[in-house]
Formats: sequence, C-alpha cells, structure tokens
Amino acid sequence: MNAVVIYWSATGNTEAIAEKISNTLGVEAKKVSDVTVDEALKYDTLILGCPAMGAEELEDTEFRPFYDELVSKGQDKKYAFFGAYGWGGGEWMNNWLSEASSQGLNVLGSIISSGGADEIEGDFDSFISAIKA
Ligand SMILES: Cc1cc2nc3c(=O)[nH]c(=O)nc-3n(C[C@H](O)[C@H](O)[C@H](O)COP(=O)(O)O)c2cc1C
Repeated sequence: MNAVVIYWSATGNTEAIAEKISNTLGVEAKKVSDVTVDEALKYDTLILGCPAMGAEELEDTEFRPFYDELVSKGQDKKYAFFGAYGWGGGEWMNNWLSEASSQGLNVLGSIISSGGADEIEGDFDSFISAIKA
C-alpha cells in the first residue's frame, strides 16, 4: 500500500505507536524532521503522529509547520492520526480531528494512547483495517 507513517515524538511514546503501526501495515515510519512535504506528497495515505503539546495542541516548531504545508498541498490525500497524551483525556486529538474536518480532509481513523504502544485506547485492529480498506 502507498502509505507512510510520519511522526514527531520527544520522549518516545508516539514513536513507539508509530513503530507498531508501521510494523503492522508493513510501511515505513519517518520522523517529521527527516521528511519534506514534497516527499510526503508521494504517498496516497499519510498516517500522522503527534503527541498533545502546548495546551491541547500539536507540537508547534516542527510538526505544526509540516502539517499546515502538507494539508494545503495534499487536500486529496487520505489521512490517519495518532499520538500520545498526558493528562488531557485526548482533547488535543479532538481538536486535531475538528480542525481536519473543517479543512475538508478525508480522515480514515485515529487512535490515542495515555502511554506508549501498550496503552493504545480503542480498537487498534479497526484503525488498521480502516487504513487498509
Ligand atoms: C510541553 C508539553 C506540553 C504538553 N501538553 C499536554 C497537553 O496539553 N495535554 C496532554 O494531555 N498532555 C500534554 N503533554 C504530555 C505529553 O503529551 C505526553 O508526555 C506524551 O506521552 C509525550 O509523547 P512523546 O513521548 O511521543 O513525546 C505535554 C507535554 C509537554 C512536554
């Protein structure tokens, strides 16, 4: 499948989820600092990971600028979102999904975790199936 996992992670939780997703799907996982928007646009499905940062926001130095440019150029792509959070109960992901909805993006699914790959909430298999479909 023509998909890629692209993520930002400071302490390794989102990275662990990225690895689980990429291993399950058999696709590459790249740090956002290691990929350009133009490289990312070669894929049909962009599986994007970013933990809750700021005040229930996306990380604003690397991930946010990448994301903004990506969605401005990749309106026709398929997206899926994931990431780790600490104390906010997943509010950042709700904010992210709302933003994506207002941007008219096709979001196949999302998963969140209060820790790393072992604390993923919701149905991981359904998340994977939605991306594969
Ligand atoms: C500067 C900073 C801001 C954060 N803001 C939030 C937040 O708004 N809501 C929340 O639930 N967790 C917040 N967290 C917790 C992180 O989302 C959590 O530690 C997560 O596991 C980090 O993921 P990572 O290991 O992939 O870097 C924040 C952490 C840091 C360092």
